[in-house]
Amino acid sequence: MFEVKNLNFRSEMVFSVRILAVGDVVSFSGREFIYSFLSKIKEKYEIDFCVVNGENSANTNGITSEIAKKIFESGADVVTLGNHAFSNKGIFQAFDSKNLIRPINYPPKVEGAGYVIFNLKGLKILVVNVLGRALMNLQLDCPFRTVNKLFWRINKMYDISVLDFHAETTSEKIAFANYFDSRINIIFGTHTHIQTADERVLPGGTGYITDLGMTGVVDSVIGVKKEIIINSFLTGKKYRFEKAVGDACLCGAIFDINPESKNINSIERIVVFKEDF
Ligand SMILES: [Fe+2]
Ligand SMILES: [Fe+2]
Repeated sequence: MFEVKNLNFRSEMVFSVRILAVGDVVSFSGREFIYSFLSKIKEKYEIDFCVVNGENSANTNGITSEIAKKIFESGADVVTLGNHAFSNKGIFQAFDSKNLIRPINYPPKVEGAGYVIFNLKGLKILVVNVLGRALMNLQLDCPFRTVNKLFWRINKMYDISVLDFHAETTSEKIAFANYFDSRINIIFGTHTHIQTADERVLPGGTGYITDLGMTGVVDSVIGVKKEIIINSFLTGKKYRFEKAVGDACLCGAIFDINPESKNINSIERIVVFKEDF
């Protein structure tokens, strides 16, 4: 793999940029896993650029400025969010960092930005976060039209485009990815906390996976204490969700892209446990 450190992408031949996308970080155990292992994972897999979904990283969902700061210090370049973006009031200070973005299709005038163009040693990487609407029960603008408008507006202002589609249904994610196939280089899904095994390059060249999975407790139901969720299904009653605490893993995917041709060299789905180090 080509070494990119301290290189100017504009003056050197660089054939491979390795982008790690990390699935939803869930509460205490997920955060601790990121703080302890993200930098080691980046080193092991020779990662150049890292996007982390932090929408559940605070104990009560959402994110705080302190947590965002620590995720960035652990090695994230951009942090994305989702339907829990505004679940914690600490988000408003966290927006001081332009590299923390929330879904772009919240209505106009909502705090924060829905995209950022990150300068990686001269290579401009656009990262967009958008929310799906199927089974989401939020007042959102259409993700398809909103992202279309963004791309008309910022055409040619970036070299590589990466999009986190935070959505519940596989069908909406796959439809979205095919709609934007060839126009967005990398599209990955988040939100369900369950990793899908469908990573592939779409016909137009977009690197895609339906869901990255989560970074959280393995022995849980999507990061929540399993007894609570089981009881809720058994009784039909709603219980206060308590996040599970215990051994966690990191789920994500590594997209290796040629920054000149924009071809996807490879996509590798990863699940990393603390025993791997
Ligand atoms: Fe979510
Ligand atoms: Fe989530």
